[in-house]
Amino acid sequence: MASVQIQAVQKYFGSTQVIRGVDIDIDDGQFAVLVGPSGCGKSTLLRMLAGLEEISEGEIAIGGRVVNNMQPKERDIAMVFQNYALYPHMTVFDNMAFSLLLARSDKASIRQRVEKAADILGLKDLLDRYPRQLSGGQRQRVAMGRAIVRDPQVFLFDEPLSNLDAKLRVQMRTEIKEMHQRLKTTSVYVTHDQIEAMTMADQIVVMRDGVVEQRGKPLDLYDRPANLFVAGFIGSPAMNFIPATLRRKGMDAEVEFSDGTRLPVPTNVEGMDGQKVIYGVRPEHLALGQPGDGIPTGVIVVEPTGADTQVYSRFCGTELTSVFRERHDFTAGDLIHLRPDHQQTHLFDAGTGRALVQHD
Ligand SMILES: Nc1ncnc2c1ncn2[C@@H]1O[C@H](COP(=O)(O)OP(=O)(O)OP(=O)(O)O)[C@@H](O)[C@H]1O
Ligand SMILES: [Mg+2]
Repeated sequence: MASVQIQAVQKYFGSTQVIRGVDIDIDDGQFAVLVGPSGCGKSTLLRMLAGLEEISEGEIAIGGRVVNNMQPKERDIAMVFQNYALYPHMTVFDNMAFSLLLARSDKASIRQRVEKAADILGLKDLLDRYPRQLSGGQRQRVAMGRAIVRDPQVFLFDEPLSNLDAKLRVQMRTEIKEMHQRLKTTSVYVTHDQIEAMTMADQIVVMRDGVVEQRGKPLDLYDRPANLFVAGFIGSPAMNFIPATLRRKGMDAEVEFSDGTRLPVPTNVEGMDGQKVIYGVRPEHLALGQPGDGIPTGVIVVEPTGADTQVYSRFCGTELTSVFRERHDFTAGDLIHLRPDHQQTHLFDAGTGRALVQHD
């Protein structure tokens, strides 16, 4: 096991810069998840960690050793990709043993390591099968088995679950987390799925357009997004955003929406009277209010899932999502009032997107 430090790292492909100065610290044994929209540079960064892509500027250290000029095989990492590319003509056992054979390990230790990995991954009864005789989830497990047998200092995962159907993805997500709790190997996991990031990570790194927007523990990012992008990216259904103007008199602050509705905001908000802001509130922080109390909205669609009710409604041209634990039989066109939990609301500068409320 080892810590990972990424310092002021940049990457150019020709004259195009795709990583623009990234700093990430990953503790020994930590499960870090890089998340962000397509094209933001997640795979590129992971490939630089693996040694598959040159580092244009900056430094990457694994276990305290700078690896910039080290070959992939010297870095003691194992990578699991999206398309797991098993050898079709080899059994599960041989697929998992292959890298150890190449490294000229002895037969007995190969058998022992493959069997241990197969045990961890629930593959013990499948060791004699060929990849074509396996389900997608089993194949993905074999791909992870190939990484585990090498007992590397760091695991790198690049969207390993994206070829699986939704149900299997959820199951495998739990399995990878269990595996990590058992092996405690430092891991860097790339995904564009923020739920995967939230549920698996010790540390989430939110990237956009080659930079790190914010990094921290999942619930810290959820509760204290540093800017509009992170606020909108983390959380499902996503945070609601309504354009507003900040109104303040002394210590008191409110927001005013375009229809004149005013609502209180957390007391420690920054910003000046008249400043254009974006008001943010998560769907679960909206309760049903009485007329005159909260945000008056017109119902568009009601989606009962059984466990809860999601209501989509419209206010001043903005669509709002609210989630209720209880059941409601609103119909389209109903007027309902949504009352935010004021202490849980967020405010962002409309220009820069920076958070104006620091939640403790
Ligand atoms: N070999 C290359 N040559 C030129 N540009 C590249 C190369 N590889 C990646 N890029 C560009 O770098 C940017 C980052 O790509 P990268 O694959 O790291 O994104 P990603 O965050 O992994 O996206 P996705 O979620 O779609 O996998 C993209 O704009 C991509 O087009
Ligand atoms: Mg990618």
